[in-house]
Amino acid sequence: MSKKRVLSGIQPTHDSFHLGNYLGALKQWVHLQSDNDAYYCVVDLHALTVETDPKLLQKRTLLSAAQLIAIGIDPNKSTLFVQSHVPAHNQLAWVFECITGFGEASRMTQFKDKSQKGGAERTNVGLFTYPILQAADILLYQPDFVPVGEDQRQHVELTRDIAERFNKKFGKVFNIPQAQIIKSLAKINDLQDPTAKMSKSAASMAGVIELLDTPEATMKKFKSSVTDDGKEIKFDEKAKPGISNLLTIHSALSGKSIESLESQFSGKGYGEFKTEVAEIVISNLEPITRRTNELMSDKAELIKILEIGAQRANQVASETLKSAYSAIGLI
Ligand code: TYM
Repeated sequence: MSKKRVLSGIQPTHDSFHLGNYLGALKQWVHLQSDNDAYYCVVDLHALTVETDPKLLQKRTLLSAAQLIAIGIDPNKSTLFVQSHVPAHNQLAWVFECITGFGEASRMTQFKDKSQKGGAERTNVGLFTYPILQAADILLYQPDFVPVGEDQRQHVELTRDIAERFNKKFGKVFNIPQAQIIKSLAKINDLQDPTAKMSKSAASMAGVIELLDTPEATMKKFKSSVTDDGKEIKFDEKAKPGISNLLTIHSALSGKSIESLESQFSGKGYGEFKTEVAEIVISNLEPITRRTNELMSDKAELIKILEIGAQRANQVASETLKSAYSAIGLI
């Protein structure tokens, strides 16, 4: 049987990815590369929707690629590339913009949230068309699965709608992909506000665990994490969102079940529990930071890896683009 295809992407908007990215998406990426034909991209064009200094964007694009390799994406197994190195993404996005309704794009909750925060005058058009570019990112590679966190579900749904519409109108060009979301890890929450998702754009970084944080900073963030009334270490997302979030993090990294953690910590205090979660996180993140730094010390090698990835990605993407152009009547 031929391998299934997988595609996903991540924005290089910050120096470091955070624990939500890692547990919700990136660990799946690593896992999926073994048995599937995997394409992973650093979506630098999407990052342009947030105003960034050009030098910083360059650095963060490389840092993102380095972190992906450091967490276990193997460029010999997966095609690892930078979105802007494959021009077909923009080319197909335009075609999709012309078959996507204004109302349909306006309903995207991420767009609504971000544009409400910034106000109409400060919201760029790129933010509006962002999910359509994402649809092009995905559909160019004809993937079966798109491993993401819960916040991307709606974008993958839109992608499916666009693909179905295109196929119906112009003949079958696109495979209809499915979002692959691991329910228990789909939304890792902020340590200071455990009802909100951990996010790169949080007002304060006090509740955001960055992969490249120092061990001291990570320990401090866990120790000052917001917990709940009562003393019991029990998983209950409604009554105990803080403790539940910490249990989820512990379980994802230690491999222990939530029930076994509940009994391990029965009768013990929040302080002891928080320290153990921090220690597990630190021991998982330390090698990632070390490897990222090593990779960043040889940028020429990193760029070479990305060039090879871009060549492979371009081959697949340009074929799909050709079929789409031809189907829609471009000669
Ligand atoms: P981005 O860069 O915001 O996030 C990368 C991945 O991390 C997941 N994620 C989380 N998962 C669990 N808990 C959290 N708190 C959390 N925060 C983030 C996201 O769901 C995502 O899977 N639009 C996308 C990037 C993109 C893309 C694509 C993804 C562009 N093109 C094509 C898939 C396919 C985004 O902004 O992800």
